[in-house]
Amino acid sequence: MRSKLAILVAALIPFAVSQPAAAQDLNIEEVFNCAADGPLGIQTPEECVESRNILLNNCTSCHTFVPIVKAQKSEDAWNSLLTAHRERVLHMSEDEFKMLGDFLRSHYNETEPVPSLPPALEALSTNQPA
Ligand code: HEC
Repeated sequence: MRSKLAILVAALIPFAVSQPAAAQDLNIEEVFNCAADGPLGIQTPEECVESRNILLNNCTSCHTFVPIVKAQKSEDAWNSLLTAHRERVLHMSEDEFKMLGDFLRSHYNETEPVPSLPPALEALSTNQPA
């Protein structure tokens, strides 16, 4: 079951990224908001876009992006998640890893609304990776 879902999601991501208004209803600007008035934290909109690409390219091989964007973690909670995850993404540079951390801390926390996802992806939020 999980592998079928993984294939579905893997197929959805590039399509949704290039065509946000398509039938999948994945609103990329809501889920990974890099608008000038979005939750950029210390990042510029350009750094935010780069960071979300880093996330999509490095954080979706073992699980989908769903548990990431549904998280509402404090800064400390993101820092400990990232520390525990560092050895899982050894191919990432320190600069990429730092940008990703800035992006995660400013976007997915208790002051930001949890983004809504298309049903197929929403169903994954209760399926935490093993
Ligand atoms: C090599 C496999 C692997 C990669 C790559 C990976 N993860 Fe994970 N992730 C896991 C596993 C396994 C779990 C289940 C909980 C655990 O063991 O930490 C998990 C769980 C999670 C969770 C949910 C658990 C929680 O504490 O909220 C989040 C959020 C998460 N990962 C974020 C990320 C981010 C961000 C990246 C990119 C830097 C990433 N993951 C890349 C394997 C991976």
